[in-house]
Amino acid sequence: FPAALLQRLYDAGFVAVLTIENLADAVPLAEALMDGGVHAMELTLRTPVAVQALEAIRDQVPEMIAGAGTVLTPDQIRQVRAAGAEFAVAPGMNPRVVAAAAEASLPFAPGICTPSELELAYEQGCQTLKFFPAEPIGGLHYLKSIAAPLRHLGIRFIPLGGIDAENMEAYLRHPLVHAVGGSWVTPPSCLAEQDWKSISRLAARASTIVQRVRN
Ligand code: 3PG
Repeated sequence: FPAALLQRLYDAGFVAVLTIENLADAVPLAEALMDGGVHAMELTLRTPVAVQALEAIRDQVPEMIAGAGTVLTPDQIRQVRAAGAEFAVAPGMNPRVVAAAAEASLPFAPGICTPSELELAYEQGCQTLKFFPAEPIGGLHYLKSIAAPLRHLGIRFIPLGGIDAENMEAYLRHPLVHAVGGSWVTPPSCLAEQDWKSISRLAARASTIVQRVRN
């Protein structure tokens, strides 16, 4: 991750996880998040319109730090790079995907949740890692334990998975944590009803917590 992008992600503090079924929802959803003060997103490649949705947001909501999530193959790295993704993440650690991201010059954070995955990611040259699934695997307490032997290496973690308005402040206050992410600001029920106001309110809740921690 280039230093400038890292700084923008740190300042944003929170990465909204988006799963978009209807292409027409992409831009209003991103705008609703921006209205609530959420400036970073991970758009998951879990639906047929995902890559087009990413492209639309890059085009029409350029202030959003737009990342791609659930990037599972080298081909998907190339697709999201072409769609304008500023970074990509994955649930797991796949060396072929890491290599494709390096070749495409796309900042990439693989997902890790064990010491072996952490070592593998480090060996592959990754310094910014998604810690997933953060809460089910043991939360901050567990992250501190697996990161302890590698603390001198300066690896940064972005925890996701089970992080919500209740627990995100504790993560954000920990020096290992660069930013956190979660899907709780984009509930499927709000998307189904195109209830952008509720999404803005949830986003404002997340950004208020970030402001409290960062100031
Ligand atoms: C992800 O892709 O990172 C997860 O879906 C986020 O986890 P959450 O849904 O528990 O926030």
